Parts: sequence; C-alpha cells; structure tokens
Amino acid sequence: MARTIRTYPDPVLAQKAQPISEVTDTIRQLAAEMLELMYAHDGIGLAAPQVGEAVRLVTLDLSGPKKREAPRVLVNPVLSGHEGQVESEEGCLSVRGYRTTVPRAERVHLSATDLEGNAIEEDCDGLLAICLQHEIDHLDGILFIDRISRLKRALYDKRVHKWIKQQQRTPSE
Ligand code: NI
Repeated sequence: MARTIRTYPDPVLAQKAQPISEVTDTIRQLAAEMLELMYAHDGIGLAAPQVGEAVRLVTLDLSGPKKREAPRVLVNPVLSGHEGQVESEEGCLSVRGYRTTVPRAERVHLSATDLEGNAIEEDCDGLLAICLQHEIDHLDGILFIDRISRLKRALYDKRVHKWIKQQQRTPSE
C-alpha cells in the first residue's frame, strides 16, 4: 500500500515515536519513500510519523524539491545545547492551509546516525537548526501548532473542524 502524508488531527501525529534499534531493509525502504513523498509535496523535511510510522526517522533536503541536491536521512536524531532565540515562519505538510511564526532556538547541536550507522555530530544554525527542531518535535508527537498562542490555535482548530464537517457532508450530497 502506498504511503500518504497524514494530516492533523490524525492521532499518529501525537504519538511519541520509538527509537530504531537496527537499520533494516524496511527502514531503508521507509526512508526512500519518505524522501519521495517529501519532494512530491514540495517539502524540505519529513518525519516518519507523518507517513504513519511512529519511529525516530527524519528526512531532509534544504536544497528543496526542485534541486534535490542534499538529501539527508537521520536515524534517532537528538538535539542538545539549544542557544539563542529566533522567530521563524513555519508550515507543515501535516498541518493543512496554515503558516505562522514559531519561537525556536537559534543554534542546536545534532547527534544522530545515518543509514550506514555512521555517527553524526554537528553544530547547526539558520534554516537547518529550525527545520531540525520542527522535525524532531514530530518524533515527540508535537506539531508547530502546539507551540503557538492558545488564541491562534483555537482559531485554527475551528477551521479544521469546519473542513472535517464539509468532508463528511460531501459524499451524501
Ligand atoms: Ni512538519
């Protein structure tokens, strides 16, 4: 069955994802499918829960879906050493029709492994730091709309409920 992008309020997006104990063919296949879906939907980052798999796997390509020059796969990524503060406008393939500014750390340190089991230790800033915080939040069941004001969130939830009602009505009309 082909995987699709899960959207809020799908419960898999609120689950805490499990660590990957071994990179198997299944994990490699999942990473390949995630990169494909990420590019197909014009994304620069994707986390496994967004395709319905609650495991700690992230794909990234900051060069974007047109260039596709810098695909990266992170297994069990962990961030530490958060420093500074920035506000960045974010959107998410799992949060339809919404973008807003989210407070993030300016710099983070990334620890992870790649699909070959090589250790990654990297100091990150700029877009990479923001993207990593967004994607690793997904692994902890957190969406960027969990980090905005209660008022903004309530307004967005109202829109989502309206869309869901419309979808439920459509087939019978
Ligand atoms: Ni996202």
